[in-house]
Amino acid sequence: MEKPLISLFPEAHQIPEEVRVPYTEQREYLINGKLCEWPGALNPVVSPVCIKQADGTAVPQVIGKTPLMDSATALQILEAAVQAYNMGQGYWPTRSVAERIAHVENFLARMRTVRNEVVNLLMWEIGKTRKDSEKEFDRTCDYIADTIKALKELDRSSAKFTEEQGFMAQIRRVPLGVVLCMGPYNYPLNETFSTLIPALIMGNTVIFKPAKYGVLLIRPLLEAFRDAFPPGVINILYGRGRETVGALMETGKIDAFAFIGTHKGANDLKKLHPKPNRLKAILGLDAKNPAIILPDADLDNAISECITGSLSFNGQRCTALKILFVHKKIVNEFLDRFTEAVKALKAGMPWEPGVSLTPLPEPGKTDYLEGLVKDALAHGARIMNDNGGAVNKTFFYPAVLYPVNPHMRVYYEEQFGPVIPVVPFEHDETPIQYVVNSNYGQQASVFGSSGKVLARYIDAFTNQVGRININTQCQRGPDTFPFNGRKDSAEGTLSVADALRAFSIRTVVATKATDENKQIIASIIRNRESVFLSTDYII
Ligand code: G3H
Repeated sequence: MEKPLISLFPEAHQIPEEVRVPYTEQREYLINGKLCEWPGALNPVVSPVCIKQADGTAVPQVIGKTPLMDSATALQILEAAVQAYNMGQGYWPTRSVAERIAHVENFLARMRTVRNEVVNLLMWEIGKTRKDSEKEFDRTCDYIADTIKALKELDRSSAKFTEEQGFMAQIRRVPLGVVLCMGPYNYPLNETFSTLIPALIMGNTVIFKPAKYGVLLIRPLLEAFRDAFPPGVINILYGRGRETVGALMETGKIDAFAFIGTHKGANDLKKLHPKPNRLKAILGLDAKNPAIILPDADLDNAISECITGSLSFNGQRCTALKILFVHKKIVNEFLDRFTEAVKALKAGMPWEPGVSLTPLPEPGKTDYLEGLVKDALAHGARIMNDNGGAVNKTFFYPAVLYPVNPHMRVYYEEQFGPVIPVVPFEHDETPIQYVVNSNYGQQASVFGSSGKVLARYIDAFTNQVGRININTQCQRGPDTFPFNGRKDSAEGTLSVADALRAFSIRTVVATKATDENKQIIASIIRNRESVFLSTDYII
């Protein structure tokens, strides 16, 4: 470790000017095209970044407050979205694709102007490094631009008529209705927008509830949302999920539910909907992605991928490597080199150049991780790295645990933090059975060089997880690849193109291909009498 944990946190004057954020007491929220003032209770925004005081103690910095709305206000917000959709007859769901794209392009241009503010808030609210915060912002802008491109392509292919078995038809994708979008705190911008933007651009109206942490960073975007979209198309709800979102679900007026979080959270909310058949769910949930390191793996590569796989953003990624199965023949060498690589990671504040390990935003998280480590030690594991599991306030220094076995909680539980369980194995069946019997099925990584052995793992895993990564860490990107999961890990598939499908349904206009019908259809098209029935397409 580069410096003692105690001197991790800065004194106020040591914070560089360009990353400081003003204290913001946010009362504004967006409803029906207006920024209204919330008169009620507020929720403090407590940064994981602590500030060293004169007496040497470090205190988490409070950087602002956000509205703690109640269920009555949540229902008003819902009503705005319901009215704007107007049973599919509203202004937004009846716009042409080209018109909706123009609104989203306008939003994207406005969004790009607040990059610095959002990046700084990402660092302060969730402790993400500056490099990763910038990446999250830029990746989100790219995602929006790619979504526009994909929709143009989709629209071009929908502009043609199909003739089949004496029928002629036009098939287009249309919106689902009112969408509730809820994102996770680890990617409060990117993951949320990867459902929010496709939902909007397909003609749905949206209620967006920001994540638990990473709430203030939506504030710089409120005016852009207000100005870029017609009233009621996007509405933003703040507050505790159980008070606000539960009330929305109980009305039965939510048509699609986009949620990234735990499967328990998703199930609790889904159950409240009185007409479950009317609720389409697009969910990104828990995961416990394993890495399997075979005896013939290129260890330089495996270690570097496992370090970023398990520790980028302190392991707080749904795709993080959360358990490492290392073959007994190489486990000692692996551990020596892996723990050296952990030692080389710089701990510090998110804005420090070259920093990798930063404080954790969830209150009580360090206690939870300590509990996991304690349980593993009680069942025979050892902490293999210097200072592993050391805590200072919101900071938890990574703990590499070995040998991990099925009696330990960390063997099954998704730690979502910097604890790295290493399981030694001899036979391929051990990691294979782990994946087969796991409650989760997002991704797996396999490191090795024998094609024959890798093929065995590939075929064993193809019906278990959504993506098998060979000699590469688990990850969502590129965003054009399908991102999904099986079992308790997801519902539906996201990617730039898949998300457009997830938030829409195909509608068919069909007729018997008689001369008379063809003439009627041709006249509708020629006279531009229908938005749906049209052969126009966007260049
Ligand atoms: O937290 C889950 C994210 O979708 C992971 O995305 O693999 O690009 O970090 P990532």
